[in-house]
Amino acid sequence: MLQDKIKQFTEEIKGFTPTSAVDVENFRLKFLVAKGIVKGLFEEFKTVSAEEKRTLGKVLNEFKQLAEQTYSDAQVQFTHTEKNLQREEGDLTLPGEGFQLGSRHPLSLVRKEIVEIFKKLGFIVAEGPEIEDDWHNFSALNFPLEHPARDMQDTFFVEKKEGNDIALRTHTSSVQVRLMEMGKPPFRAIMPGRVYRNEAISARAHCFFHQVEGLYVDENVSFADLKQTLFHFVQELYGEGTKVRFRPSYFPFTEPSAEMDISCTICKGKGCQLCKYSGWVEILGCGMVDPNVLENCGIDSKKYSGFAFGMGIERITNLKYEIRDLRLFSENDVRFLSQFETELV
Ligand code: DAH
Repeated sequence: MLQDKIKQFTEEIKGFTPTSAVDVENFRLKFLVAKGIVKGLFEEFKTVSAEEKRTLGKVLNEFKQLAEQTYSDAQVQFTHTEKNLQREEGDLTLPGEGFQLGSRHPLSLVRKEIVEIFKKLGFIVAEGPEIEDDWHNFSALNFPLEHPARDMQDTFFVEKKEGNDIALRTHTSSVQVRLMEMGKPPFRAIMPGRVYRNEAISARAHCFFHQVEGLYVDENVSFADLKQTLFHFVQELYGEGTKVRFRPSYFPFTEPSAEMDISCTICKGKGCQLCKYSGWVEILGCGMVDPNVLENCGIDSKKYSGFAFGMGIERITNLKYEIRDLRLFSENDVRFLSQFETELV
């Protein structure tokens, strides 16, 4: 009998106490879908007598409303809270979102590498000011007064001072002077830093760049020590088997002076565009500290001797990573920067 069925299902619905969204969905599937109980009872309703229709019509409508209301209440209760829960706890099965890490600047990476090699040989790290006076940048380093490097074209002057102009240092050799003035031999130091020159910016020149200076002063330091130290450095930095050669050169602060070439890291000495088909590339200047420089810094040049060297970090980096445009180092383009090592420190 239709009436009995309605009564029975009404009780079932009233006793419905869902504990999960699955229960709610099962309720819908049982009562509210096209082939569900509510529709079924309405089908059956069509078959009853006209008299019964009058009384049962209302009851059946109420039953339908009860089923729909129960379902929507349960839906609010479960579907919502479960979604909220999911949001709070997160779906632990999803892959992690990850976060983007920055990378080290290539010049920092290479500077660190250079410094580490010399640290193992007992060199300490020293630094000096970027705004420097004429004495430390030029005079103490034995630059004659009329030397072209003092020219307006090369140096950014900050302040003109009688006999001791203030300028942005043009090289890290100034730190040698500061170090030697401050202490007593032996000195064994590596001095990284930024330097400035009044140059037009292009792929091959920039108005600021970076250098690493080296200084070793003690009794009986010889050119052989210089060669061996730099040879070791090159083997460590560019790998065993990298060849070196020294060419005589001139710097005011060293005597004798040399420039050091290494066998081209790209073509291994066979000849390529980078080494201009010579098989060699120059990487640094070096020499025995001129006795005048030692004396200028208050060091007895009869007792002590030393060697010094200076290299551009950009150049070393270009050779290591085959970078052909200096401007890339200071443009902060992440497409360039993100290609370098990421370090979690
Ligand atoms: N200061 C030189 C420059 O900027 C590099 C240099 C050459 C440094 C020879 C030295 C050295 O200490 O001995 O070009």
